Amino acid sequence: SLQCDLTGWWENDLGSKMHVSKVDSQGNFSGKYYTAVSSAQKPIEPSPLIGSQHLDEDGQCTFGFTVNWKFSDSTAVFTGQCFAGEGGEEVLQSTWLLREKVDSLPSDWKATRTGHNVFTRLG
Ligand code: BTN
Repeated sequence: SLQCDLTGWWENDLGSKMHVSKVDSQGNFSGKYYTAVSSAQKPIEPSPLIGSQHLDEDGQCTFGFTVNWKFSDSTAVFTGQCFAGEGGEEVLQSTWLLREKVDSLPSDWKATRTGHNVFTRLG
């Protein structure tokens, strides 16, 4: 049976890295995110992530996680799915929302960015 355990080190197309600590029997996990890019003013710091994944044995699990940036007022959520690449390597396709803090209700419209990241396993 194929697998899709997110435990371990991953890198995305921006050069950001994340480490997922052990995924528990319910599919819940925590970890740290090391973003390579930022729209914040302060220096980048590793930031905690918490998430969950399905534990299907077909290697194509969906997952989601939240990153609470320690150097920024923003919050990011990622959702995605694991696949096997051409060479059998694990590929995580993900879509993210990045919520920035704005100072008033009239600025709400511009507070959310979205994008896509592809992660592959490191090491
Ligand atoms: C911020 O800019 O306020 C915090 C850092 C946000 C980094 C974003 S999250 C989505 C995208 N994917 C990454 O790996 N980094 C950026």
